[in-house]
Amino acid sequence: MTVNNLSIVLAERPTDDIVPGTTFAQKITPAPTPADLKDGEILVEALYLSLDPAMRGWLQDTRSYLPPVQIGEVMRGASICRVLASKSKQAAAGDFVCGFTGWTQYAILREGSFEPSSNYPGLRDPKDMLSVLGMTGITAWVGMTKIGEPKAGETVVVSGAAGATGSVAGQIAKLKGARVVGLAGSDAKCKWLVEELGFDVAINYKDADFKQKLAEATPNYIDVYFDNVGGEILNACLARAKEHARFVMCGGISQYNTSKPQGPSNITKIITMRIKMQGFIVFDHIKDYPKARQELSQWMAEGKIKKTEHILKGGLQVAEQGLVGLYKGTNTGKLLVEVKNPDEPPSKL
Ligand SMILES: NC(=O)c1ccc[n+]([C@@H]2O[C@H](COP(=O)([O-])OP(=O)(O)OC[C@H]3O[C@@H](n4cnc5c(N)ncnc54)[C@H](OP(=O)(O)O)[C@@H]3O)[C@@H](O)[C@H]2O)c1
Repeated sequence: MTVNNLSIVLAERPTDDIVPGTTFAQKITPAPTPADLKDGEILVEALYLSLDPAMRGWLQDTRSYLPPVQIGEVMRGASICRVLASKSKQAAAGDFVCGFTGWTQYAILREGSFEPSSNYPGLRDPKDMLSVLGMTGITAWVGMTKIGEPKAGETVVVSGAAGATGSVAGQIAKLKGARVVGLAGSDAKCKWLVEELGFDVAINYKDADFKQKLAEATPNYIDVYFDNVGGEILNACLARAKEHARFVMCGGISQYNTSKPQGPSNITKIITMRIKMQGFIVFDHIKDYPKARQELSQWMAEGKIKKTEHILKGGLQVAEQGLVGLYKGTNTGKLLVEVKNPDEPPSKL
């Protein structure tokens, strides 16, 4: 019997915010079967889908580090999957892998488009393949250890601090002996950052006196700023930069949904404070993934890095609303959609 495969495709490019029910559409096709596999391929079912701020950029028909998703194409995305059948030596039926399935229930993945769980040393929870040991954790590792390079006693400020990337970036800075100030969008997130993750200070950037609190929290100014958000918060951190500060430009989520992005008015602080400001894309650092995963895995095992996931139930149908929520700060830690409960038996295709 043919099994249906639900996919979410791009229906219309948004100009500003993603519009649930308009930007994306549901599409049902027959699921692939083991008979469709060629050598070097695996048939998988998605268990958890990653929702990432960058997805808004992938909807934009503009020059970037990846081509835009085309109208009618399955939305790009990475999932943790269970292997249902395999013609690859890299993974056997029953294994967990992480791969670029797109927003779909079932997919065939070719070697090179998935990573077997053996690539993740010390893996205890398959969800970590999309969080601490996956793209967001490695992004934090690259940005902090290769670009920010905080030294003991320096002041590090992290925006988007209670998110998947920021929460790991701040903890790495603590491991390096820095004094870490986290910026996040609610008092509950700030409490989590200080009480659970060990940040020295956390400030709710929505407070009316945010700039004053930032100044009080950075009496010796900022040595390293790890930017996940851009906009007004970046501007405020430029104003607090110390001479020769390093600004790690990881993301600018506050500007992703507007057709009229705002640049920082304090831009000349880069000159007067001799700031080194560097952008990066994690995919350029693929050769560092094994080292990053080794260190992150060890730090987790030692209890030096803690994590949390925000899991949306309801299958792929809730992914677009979930993605909208990411830009409103609904998540603490890594945002995932549960496509299928891993405790359920594997599908028979
Ligand atoms: N360069 C790279 O290779 C790379 C790779 C991965 C991710 N990134 C970037 O890293 C950043 C974090 O990504 P993530 O996957 O870890 O997501 P995340 O931080 O887990 O989730 C996004 C968070 O951004 C905050 N936010 C949303 N709108 C905001 C606004 N207008 N102003 C300030 N904060 C806002 C929200 O928290 P609040 O409640 O605190 O507002 C939300 O929870 C993103 O900018 C992403 O594009 C870059």
